[in-house]
Amino acid sequence: MAVLNIPTQAFPDQRPGTSGLRKKVTIFQQPHYLENFVQSIFEAIPDRMGKTLVLGGDGRFFNREAIQIILRMAAANGWGKVMVGRGGLFSTPAVSAVIRAHRAHGGIILSASHNPAGPDHDFGIKYNISNGGPAPEKITDAIWAGSKNIQSFRILDTADVDIDHEGHFQLGDMAVEVCDPVSDYAALMARIFDFDALRRLFAGPFRMRFDAMHAITGPYALEILENQLGAVPGTVINGIPLTDFGGGHPDPNLVYAKSLADALFAEDAPDFGAASDGDGDRNMILGRRFFVTPSDSLAVLAANATHIPAYQTGLKGIARSMPTSQAADVVAQQLGIPHYETPTGWKFFGNLLDAGKITFCGEESFGTGSDHVREKDGLWAVLAWLSIIAASGKSVADIVVQHWQDFGRHYYTRHDYENIPASAGEEIMKTLSVQLPILVGQTLAGRVVQKADDFAYTDPIDGSISSHQGIRLLFEDGARLIVRLSGTGTEGATVRIYHEHLEQDAARQQLDPQRILRDLITLGKDLTRIEQLTGRKAPTVIT
Ligand code: G6P
Ligand code: ZN
Repeated sequence: MAVLNIPTQAFPDQRPGTSGLRKKVTIFQQPHYLENFVQSIFEAIPDRMGKTLVLGGDGRFFNREAIQIILRMAAANGWGKVMVGRGGLFSTPAVSAVIRAHRAHGGIILSASHNPAGPDHDFGIKYNISNGGPAPEKITDAIWAGSKNIQSFRILDTADVDIDHEGHFQLGDMAVEVCDPVSDYAALMARIFDFDALRRLFAGPFRMRFDAMHAITGPYALEILENQLGAVPGTVINGIPLTDFGGGHPDPNLVYAKSLADALFAEDAPDFGAASDGDGDRNMILGRRFFVTPSDSLAVLAANATHIPAYQTGLKGIARSMPTSQAADVVAQQLGIPHYETPTGWKFFGNLLDAGKITFCGEESFGTGSDHVREKDGLWAVLAWLSIIAASGKSVADIVVQHWQDFGRHYYTRHDYENIPASAGEEIMKTLSVQLPILVGQTLAGRVVQKADDFAYTDPIDGSISSHQGIRLLFEDGARLIVRLSGTGTEGATVRIYHEHLEQDAARQQLDPQRILRDLITLGKDLTRIEQLTGRKAPTVIT
């Protein structure tokens, strides 16, 4: 088996975004496009020689082809061993768990997360480091720089290998282990949670529905919820990963997981509903006729963490991304533990987790997790909610309403304007930035602006600075209005406007967020001039 050194030409568009490189499948199918990026990843990891790499993806179209190419390139680039999930499958949190459990040097995850899959849709590739978390900017910048100068890539000259049966074999000088993608992850969950208590919950009248949305969490949810915890067969729906995710858009929110939401709002609704995204790191939590906003989910989990064996002794601290509501901060203050505000992107939690500063972290974008891995973890969040339901004997609605009474309710809504022209996105941010200096002290939407800035973050562990992370207006009454450009889209630009208002009065805590936040919503539209600049009268997605 010869190592081929194949000349290539650089592509100018291989800059990794919030979560690696995401493009249309047709772009990845261009000759050498994937190979160039993979070579650039490997060269950004100079100490890879002889080390172990974990490899797998969410099963979307092009996953299998990409796995074969990456295996042959890994063998030609000095890796000692690759652990690949059977069928080329691994969820994102499972890769993180496997990297940590096997002390691997890193991992490659093939996914475009919640973006649709299929020949005309999206593919993606990201690198995770030895702590199990997304590569920090130092590495993604090196990958990008490498991709612009690449002249050749290395690949083993060999036929496709069998990734559908567990076992070990050699590929040139490199060992390959095809492993069960679920077992390490399931074992980790069994160590964190009290599976006996959850079995007792499912043995009673409690019913749940988990929508895997035809994506990667199906095998994990079937094994853990139905096989190990005894949930009735049929609890997991859409549980077989399909290469096109069944034509759907596996983003667990009220728009894209509408059929699940409808089922939970029906007369005969189950007690609990949950969904995950394409690669299994996001989660949506529903009770019977009740939606839990992700910011509240983080706060509720933090307030009730001691019900879960792994967190029995309490949390070290909590972190949330800047646009995530301040609900978790209030919990941290009452628990007397530190809280941190980071830019959007799970990678910013990595240093805080590694340094033992925080135990829980979460984002408004349907991400919740803990120090058990270095990615957000959809099924972990589901098991955490189940644990709190089992321990308290209460419904989801009762748990959350009680939480609001204890801590105040942070009314919250995010309005997305998806796929607008990139130039309009820039213009909106500029329109807002130039107004910042004159906004402080003004009364807008009935509130006084206390602070108006472009969020910048200094990492408390390594001192690195990340600027331009979103524009924030902080009001004297605790309300916030935030505007930022999404870093994860593959077409045009997406503007996200986040609205938040704190209500302490229990009598006013169960109203419609769109109504309570109406004045902030109008203000956001006015200040960004979004209608004039895009012609859009309404957001494409409201969460
Ligand atoms: C991914 C990242 C998250 C991030 C989310 C939204 O899921 O892992 O950390 O919050 O994308 O990012 P965006 O830039 O699109 O708002
Ligand atoms: Zn995801």
